[in-house]
Amino acid sequence: MSAGDRPEGAIPTPAPVRWPHRHLLDVDALTRPEIDLVMRTADEMHDVLARPIPKVPALRGLGVTILFYEASTRTRVSFEVAAKNLSADVVNIAAASSSVSKGESLVDTVRTVEALGADMIVMRHGVSGAPYLAAEVFGGSVLNGGDGWHAHPSQALLDLYTMRSRLPGGSLEGRKVVILGDVLHSRVARSNVWTLTAMGADLWLCGPTTLLRGFDAWAARGAAGRRFTVTSDVGAALRDADVVMALRIQKERMASGLLPSLREYAARYGLTSERLRAARPGALVMHPGPLNEGVEIAADVAVDPRSVITDQVANGVAVRMALLYLMAGARRTEAGA
Ligand code: CP
Repeated sequence: MSAGDRPEGAIPTPAPVRWPHRHLLDVDALTRPEIDLVMRTADEMHDVLARPIPKVPALRGLGVTILFYEASTRTRVSFEVAAKNLSADVVNIAAASSSVSKGESLVDTVRTVEALGADMIVMRHGVSGAPYLAAEVFGGSVLNGGDGWHAHPSQALLDLYTMRSRLPGGSLEGRKVVILGDVLHSRVARSNVWTLTAMGADLWLCGPTTLLRGFDAWAARGAAGRRFTVTSDVGAALRDADVVMALRIQKERMASGLLPSLREYAARYGLTSERLRAARPGALVMHPGPLNEGVEIAADVAVDPRSVITDQVANGVAVRMALLYLMAGARRTEAGA
């Protein structure tokens, strides 16, 4: 039975690869077959989303708490939509309006939401590693919605899903993918390095040397067979690129002295239509958002026909449904259900 023939409300077909992960803290723990499983499950969820009523009962009776200590639009809302589409009971907590503002610790907050019925926590935190601490004390599953500079696993998986769905042939093998901009402060770049190189992409990280620190050593140490280049030469990076992903300049995380000025940055590294001419015709333009138009990406490039930025946002729902669904399955397996 194809997904389209399935009666509405049916749970998607279980995929043959087992999902062993109770938590999703980063993508570095995922094998290539597990990444493929996320992609296939997201395809199933994509079909669910095309139904008149895009809802399945897969997470009925499970509590999902969305606990965000940092601002977010895409990740927070798409996890909420995803959990509701799977019929979970969803609670949203913004740290600024919770008892965190009275000094409650992360550990006490996690224990509190568990006592209030959370089975899964989706967490964003400004401190790298905070979701790992939460996972140590929480009895359920923790999904990292972005921690400091460290990781943004669901973003990397939706970026991969978007590339696979838009690139001819649907494969990353040998494709030149450029991540351009503030790589240093980017949890998106750090997670994308794992997934894209695991899928065989020829990955280039490009930006001012001050915003690439540490990555050249990482590239040199890279796992055998992974293609990973670090450069400040934007022309070389963009030449014949299949995908160009611009990254936001993260002013909120930036120490002084890393950039002379935003104007100079935009002039030397901003993704303009002129620079994009060096890429392959039809190269995909991506950006994880939020955008600083006129800084890391020109306004006309953001809405160019080659831009798949709104696809990234929309695909976030299907990919996050897939992740919640797989995590719920792992919980049931652990519980012997
Ligand atoms: N890409 C991303 O994490 O966006 P938000 O900060 O809006 O969630």
